[in-house]
Amino acid sequence: MSILVSNIAQLVTLDPADPERQVREDAALVIDEGRIAWVGDNAEAPAADAHLDAQGAAVIPGFVDSHSHLVFAGDRVDEFEARMAGRSYTAGGIRTTVAATREASDDELNARLQHLVAQARAQGTTTMEVKSGYGLTVAHEARALRLARAVTTETTFLGAHVVPAEYAHDREAYVDLVCGDMLAECAPLARFIDVFIDSGAFTVDEARRILLAGRDAALELRVHAGQLAADGGVALAVELGAASVDHCTFLTDDDVELLAESARSTAETVATLLPLVEFSTKQPYPNARRLLDAGASLALATDCNPGSNYSSSMPLVIALAVRELSMTPFEALAAATRGGARALRRTDIGHLGVGARGDVVILDAPDYRHLAYRAGVPLVREVVQGGVVVPGAPSRSPRSAEG
Ligand code: NIG
Ligand code: FE
Repeated sequence: MSILVSNIAQLVTLDPADPERQVREDAALVIDEGRIAWVGDNAEAPAADAHLDAQGAAVIPGFVDSHSHLVFAGDRVDEFEARMAGRSYTAGGIRTTVAATREASDDELNARLQHLVAQARAQGTTTMEVKSGYGLTVAHEARALRLARAVTTETTFLGAHVVPAEYAHDREAYVDLVCGDMLAECAPLARFIDVFIDSGAFTVDEARRILLAGRDAALELRVHAGQLAADGGVALAVELGAASVDHCTFLTDDDVELLAESARSTAETVATLLPLVEFSTKQPYPNARRLLDAGASLALATDCNPGSNYSSSMPLVIALAVRELSMTPFEALAAATRGGARALRRTDIGHLGVGARGDVVILDAPDYRHLAYRAGVPLVREVVQGGVVVPGAPSRSPRSAEG
């Protein structure tokens, strides 16, 4: 089954194999058997089994959201309101969600998860990483990963999210559990292991132990670091060759240099910025320019979770990155697609080069820069995921309004 997408006014391919032509005009593309099979001028478009007319719109790769926590119950809207009134974010709120999540049935958790993934997809996200981390027992962490695996291959074991209340007086025993029975049960269900390094969560030494145990269990590594302070987590992530270090709001000069060096190496550690967290916690935004100018590899993701940010909107991430992180619209779009793919160590997503997965978003706009320019407007008109047109997609208008 092949699909021709024609009449694309502006096609953002981000094809790593064609660095000179990341953005093409008057283009078309063909998806065959779920993969990009042809990209070229609209005038030369071949025939296909099915046809999507972009009607003068811009077309971009589906977003790769490389950081989310979607398996949970309840919400923390009161905590959000209190933060907007001036209270600080702390890791302690995670325990509220852990209690609600343990109480919930599999069906309740699954229904919420499916709904959140569908909402993200309607906003153009075609790949999502999903973490555990609100169970914090062997059975509850494994349950979260089992549910997550049904919606994505990009699952992350985050037993080291916080020390749960029942281990508050024996954190070493909890770290033993995470590295022992919990890891043994969860490793077959996950691709990555992650640790939240923070004064309210885990120390760098605890994180090293947990990540090394994960690596021994054949998991790839990710780290939460620098959310509330420069905490040494970036150096650990780079030292251990983590795929990504996420938040990076507070960084030392040495951290920036280490990330830049790692971007020049074969096993880069991507710095993943999560500006919706700063939006939703009233923290200062991370300094993306400092990282980009140093040569670090950057991704943008949502971190959708009930505490520090409950938005799954990658278009809003892009708008914030342009407005508050001083990224150009192109840098922001690239970080939200190919950058996310790099943070997941995937080369087959995040771009529209021939051979890539057929994850294509048709915008309701003639130019990708409208994603930042028209913040908050539903500009995702059609989503194709793995070569399949997502039914009942979002804001379908007969024509791109300005096309
Ligand atoms: O990435 N920082 C740690 N974990 C999440 C927050 C989780 C929560 O507050 O429930 C984050 O921001
Ligand atoms: Fe997170």
